[in-house]
Amino acid sequence: MSSDWVDTKKLASSLQINERELTNWLNHIPAAVDEPVATEEEATPSTLFLDKNGIKVFQEDFLNTARLAPSSIDLIVTSPPYNVGIDYITHNDANEYESYLEFSKRWLTKSYEVSRPDGRLCMNIPLDKNKGGQQSVCADLTHIAKQIGWHYHSTIIWNEGNISRRTAWGSWMSASAPFVIAPVEVIVVMYKEHWKKHKRPSQKSDIERNEFMAWTNGVWTFNGESKKKVGHPAPFPRELPKRCIKLFSFVGEMVLDPFMGSGTTLLEAYANQRQGIGFDIALDYCRLAQKRLNGLWSHEQLKLL
Ligand SMILES: C[S@@+](CC[C@H](N)C(=O)[O-])C[C@H]1O[C@@H](n2cnc3c(N)ncnc32)[C@H](O)[C@@H]1O
Repeated sequence: MSSDWVDTKKLASSLQINERELTNWLNHIPAAVDEPVATEEEATPSTLFLDKNGIKVFQEDFLNTARLAPSSIDLIVTSPPYNVGIDYITHNDANEYESYLEFSKRWLTKSYEVSRPDGRLCMNIPLDKNKGGQQSVCADLTHIAKQIGWHYHSTIIWNEGNISRRTAWGSWMSASAPFVIAPVEVIVVMYKEHWKKHKRPSQKSDIERNEFMAWTNGVWTFNGESKKKVGHPAPFPRELPKRCIKLFSFVGEMVLDPFMGSGTTLLEAYANQRQGIGFDIALDYCRLAQKRLNGLWSHEQLKLL
């Protein structure tokens, strides 16, 4: 910015400062920019990694993506990072709780923007956190989601039968400071504007009678997935997205997983005739999701022979 636009003599005298110093100072103010400039954090690469059979995978930071149109997603099924120190390739999973809540606010806001008015969210998160200080994770994330505009529908308790968590007792057999640990996770179910979906003529549900009866009971019992078998540090079992997809979306609808990891949600979106979009920042996890999807597709082709 130059000093041409201002009467420096008048300004210097009203400010009671030296005119030459003022001119010099004005000439060194950087020019204003009309276009917003992406910060280094925002300027992450975005790659369409896979686009096949109605399934898309993006290697991209979901927080900064511009890939999704507003109001375009019918159902989100996801398990975000839990902030429990898991050794992901790219993401740092050991932040201060406050910054974890800030991260949660950002992805929940983005998810809200891209959801249709009858869009739904199935958020698989811990009930609470014990290591490194007790925190009410489920209550806190639900509260943040409601502040953003998400409406609360229900909470499913996932009894994953994980007894290996019982390592910390606090004060053993003493009332001094015992630890109470619930070996469960939750799936918080929320919606954007209205819960009732207005079925368009071409849409149908594919859930069977026995599935509907069993899954509308909000305590789900099935085992967790083996990290070793899948090759990812925190996969959920296929049963989890399968139930959410069949219970909460119509055939053909658009399912999103903003933190797809090994692509479990996408496998079940495809297997249940939905469209699917997944994001992960780590290239190796995108490769893993692609490998699992390819496995599913070649298995299907073999069955046709
Ligand atoms: C709990 S794991 C999801 C596992 C997945 N449900 C599965 O079955 O494999 C969370 C994933 O989020 C990814 N992630 C972390 N931050 C991300 C971000 N900002 N954008 C996209 N992916 C991210 C991590 O790389 C990790 O793979």
